[in-house]
Amino acid sequence: MTDQNDTPPIGLWLIGARGAISTCVAYGLAGIRHGMLEPVGLTTAEPPLSELDLAPFESFVLGGHDVCARDVSRSAGELVKTGILQPDLVAATASEAATYEANLRPGPLDGPDVGLADLDPRSSELGALPPLQQVARMRADWDEFERANGLARTVIAYVASTEAGRDAQPEWDDLGELEASLERGIEQPASLLYAFAALGSGRPFVNFTPNLGASPKALHALAEREGVPHCGNDGKTGETLLKTVLAPMFRARALRVLSWQGYNMLGNRDGEVLRDAAHRQVKVQHKDDALRSILGNGRDLHTQVGIDYVPSLSDWKTAWDFVHFEGFLGARMSLQFTWAGSDSALAAPLILDLARLAEFAQRRGEGGLMAHTACFFKAPLAGGTHDFHRQYAALVEYATSRMARR
Ligand SMILES: NC(=O)c1ccc[n+]([C@@H]2O[C@H](COP(=O)([O-])OP(=O)(O)OC[C@H]3O[C@@H](n4cnc5c(N)ncnc54)[C@H](O)[C@@H]3O)[C@@H](O)[C@H]2O)c1
Repeated sequence: MTDQNDTPPIGLWLIGARGAISTCVAYGLAGIRHGMLEPVGLTTAEPPLSELDLAPFESFVLGGHDVCARDVSRSAGELVKTGILQPDLVAATASEAATYEANLRPGPLDGPDVGLADLDPRSSELGALPPLQQVARMRADWDEFERANGLARTVIAYVASTEAGRDAQPEWDDLGELEASLERGIEQPASLLYAFAALGSGRPFVNFTPNLGASPKALHALAEREGVPHCGNDGKTGETLLKTVLAPMFRARALRVLSWQGYNMLGNRDGEVLRDAAHRQVKVQHKDDALRSILGNGRDLHTQVGIDYVPSLSDWKTAWDFVHFEGFLGARMSLQFTWAGSDSALAAPLILDLARLAEFAQRRGEGGLMAHTACFFKAPLAGGTHDFHRQYAALVEYATSRMARR
């Protein structure tokens, strides 16, 4: 591990900075610094990843963009009420929360504000600017953040609300065409503009959401051209994590899965946004793709994923899955599981892991797709297997190879 005194401060810029995940990142990081929390749920805090020369938690300085004006301490208050943040942690880390709040800037509001509340009027104005002006504003915010805090580099982690799905545009396939379309002022989803702004200015980009972000080929080309690491999409934290752990077992035992029915209930803001069919569509697709790819599409496999908004559950996502399968002699059996997890407490440590891995990759001059981070995502950008065990083995292999090269 790096001696923390030798490590220059590193920026972690959260897009969706006042949301539930970002709030848990901010208070969780402050809690680790105060020695009030153990780094539970952090893959990079355990061997073999902890043996890499990763930036220590203490070196990260937080900032971020959001489109709402809700104070972070209010977001924390909501998480205290639901039992996710402890009141003593919030009280002891008030000064870190105030510093974080001071580092937040309005981001551009994109399209219809389904499920969003307390909107900052400056965000609507920013969203109405031509795309390249929005990009310039983002970069100016990051430059100022780095200057003010003496940062060596900044990782951009995208944890904003789920956007409505859009039809693919021809310019997404070619960097030159995308750049030309931005010059002409053609509108693009905010997630794509954030990714473009980050990668084009040499800042690693982590997309934890199902949103477009850096998925288009044009953005991959930009990351390659600039030699900047990036990864995504859509954090694998709950039901899909379990699916991609269990499905390989059925496959390995040659048990024939006939149906896999999943039903999710969640009550937080993300759930409210996902209530809208256009916003839900991409999420459901990612959850279904992982299963089909492990179990095979060739056979007659019935899968279905449902997501419903149940306000009283707040951040406590509950998923119920029913797996109907066939064994030898045609015997039909079933497995059912119920998962009740705090979505944000599961996601926040992964953001810290990914920020550390992205910073490490950039420091070592590794640009382009971070294929080794696939185990963190429902729809890994580099493709490959969805099998969690194999994905985790690839992460361990990456760590081992980087230790050997020290
Ligand atoms: N929690 C999990 O386990 C998990 C897993 C996978 C993916 N995700 C995704 O992570 C994202 C965040 O989840 P959350 O629970 O923190 O949601 P949240 O609704 O609490 O927070 C999202 C924040 O993004 C802000 N926002 C919306 N549009 C923005 C824009 N254009 N620029 C900047 N900020 C913007 C909102 O105002 C809000 O504060 C969602 O897209 C969710 O689907 C979460």
